[in-house]
Amino acid sequence: MAQVVTATPRLLLGPGPANVDPRVLQALATPVQGHLDPEFLATLDSIRAGLKRLFRTSSDATLAISGTGSSGMETCLVNVVEPGSKVLVGVGGYFGRRICQVAARLGAEVVEVAYEPGQPLDPGKMIDALKAHPDARVVAVVHAETSTGVLQPLEEIGEAVSGTEALFMVDCVTSLGGAPVEVDGWHIDLAYSCSQKCIGMVSGLAPVTFSAKALDVVRRRKSPPSSFYLGIDVLLDYWGEKRIYHHTACSTLYYGLQAALELIFAEGLEARWQRHREVGQLLQQRLQEMGCRLFAAEGYRLPMLTAVLPPEGVDAGAVRRALLEQFNIEVGAGLGELKDKLWRIGLMGYNARRAMVDTICGALAALM
Ligand SMILES: Cc1ncc(COP(=O)(O)O)c(C=O)c1O
Repeated sequence: MAQVVTATPRLLLGPGPANVDPRVLQALATPVQGHLDPEFLATLDSIRAGLKRLFRTSSDATLAISGTGSSGMETCLVNVVEPGSKVLVGVGGYFGRRICQVAARLGAEVVEVAYEPGQPLDPGKMIDALKAHPDARVVAVVHAETSTGVLQPLEEIGEAVSGTEALFMVDCVTSLGGAPVEVDGWHIDLAYSCSQKCIGMVSGLAPVTFSAKALDVVRRRKSPPSSFYLGIDVLLDYWGEKRIYHHTACSTLYYGLQAALELIFAEGLEARWQRHREVGQLLQQRLQEMGCRLFAAEGYRLPMLTAVLPPEGVDAGAVRRALLEQFNIEVGAGLGELKDKLWRIGLMGYNARRAMVDTICGALAALM
């Protein structure tokens, strides 16, 4: 049979998607099933159990939205934000800003708590903002700011928010599966992620989790969430015991996610964090030896995503294009004002291996 589509195989060393383990690809070739097939529903139960382990939460309001990471962000916000709700957002990069945009579209009164790109948000600054706005409904922070390569410490903010009426929302799109995320331990009420980064699957699913406190806020809303597709109430009627049809979930993607989760727990979560930490540090060391400068402050660098400035005189955009054209390697460009100033190199999931460090550093050395 003639092949109907072709796509050049790439080495995906950008901010995601990453290449996936062949066993996940195999799972993506399982027979298509209906969204109410008993076998498929059992798979959803297993995914929920896996995501609870991954998020480190006991909350049953944990599931995977049919959509990319952004749908996870929208799910968390649309369910708890009502017109006029106050939302405090830490903004030190592109994805903090996106949270503001989504919240504003929902009619929220957004309070930006700005911090310098490349640096983490000082927890004290967010805590002061919460004191100044005791009526805040949500305090939102990006755990792994993919635009700058910064890992945000969360414990102190979570502790402070937990003593108030506000909900602590965390973007774990880049961190989940590659670095510790402790939803219950850090008092996180709303968290979301994506399938295509450290979880090791293709894009298309967004793990989310809601705490009991967050569900209580949903219950006390004056009117139901404006989105049916992302409404946690109706989603839980499908994922929970009632099994009420909500949308035609794509069995293919969920089987892929189940396989990815099984691989994560076969490896061990701590071992997986350690693997990401080691290869991330190796890459960062090698890049610095090559004369590159790391964008994120020392001590706050993401292991799975390195934002890096090339040596003086090297055209970041030209090298990035040559990596793709000559080496079939994709790395990310800078976002917004950082476009063509830096590269964003990802070592995520299946690609978090020493061989990838050698490959990307060899290709960069050849091009520079
Ligand atoms: C921190 C962060 N938040 C949200 C998103 C949006 O996810 P998606 O592109 O899967 O919709 C991304 C995507 O890279 C991200 O890095």
